[in-house]
Amino acid sequence: MAAHYDSIAQEYKRSKDLPIRAHIERYTYFNMLGDVRGKSILDLACGEGIYSREFKKKGAALVVGVDISEKMIELAKQEEAKQKFDIQYIVADVMELGKIGDFDLVVASYLLNYAQTEEQLLKMCQTIFTNLKPGGRFVTLNNNLEQPISSYLTTEKYGFIKTISQPLEPGTAMTLTFTINGEKFSFDNYYLSRETYQRVFKSVGFTDVIWQNMVVSPEGIEESGQEFWQDYLDCMPHVGIECFK
Ligand SMILES: C[S@@+](CC[C@H](N)C(=O)[O-])C[C@H]1O[C@@H](n2cnc3c(N)ncnc32)[C@H](O)[C@@H]1O
Repeated sequence: MAAHYDSIAQEYKRSKDLPIRAHIERYTYFNMLGDVRGKSILDLACGEGIYSREFKKKGAALVVGVDISEKMIELAKQEEAKQKFDIQYIVADVMELGKIGDFDLVVASYLLNYAQTEEQLLKMCQTIFTNLKPGGRFVTLNNNLEQPISSYLTTEKYGFIKTISQPLEPGTAMTLTFTINGEKFSFDNYYLSRETYQRVFKSVGFTDVIWQNMVVSPEGIEESGQEFWQDYLDCMPHVGIECFK
């Protein structure tokens, strides 16, 4: 996993320029997060720190970013060298991280979809739960594992598609291929059912779980029109999740 992201770190960073990132991903994420001013935030699978920096820009008191890929953390630190955000970055596997603090918010955009088994998902969620204060909240974005397979290729116009080479069963690899300025790069997520996620969230101790549909920003609609986004909204390739401790 680390090795894979090490080799696509720059490409992944560039994919953040796609319109879906700003108008759907970021917009939905911050709607779910609400006001982060004064909050302590643990950003798991922070990648090159795009959201870690944004939490600080929006007034978070403390941000710690964790990622398994040394290369992603190197890119995050390069940004930190350009402009000091006072974010602490740690290279670690979330499954092995243990407790490093008591945070108001734990976030982890696109982490859980790397769990290949229920046991791995459990380890990730135990780390998340143990690092939250009582009353704290876990907010994440995830590959929507319930997207109809027939729609996997309909998102090409947004710059990415999903493919599978086996029926969807626990642990099936789902390949995401992005096309940025004509260049392609791919990585795998893994299928586990929503019921498995729900069972694991409850078993680690989360009291409430909310699954959130992705939404398009008003600017996105103004820029490209509702019709442009409709294929995305019809098949919902991603999903938001909020869990309460
Ligand atoms: C799709 S990227 C998302 C990065 C960032 N959260 C974002 O939204 O831009 C997924 C990240 O998860 C990291 N990752 C995957 N499995 C991990 C694990 N077990 N522990 C820590 N990081 C992990 C990868 O290295 C990669 O940087």
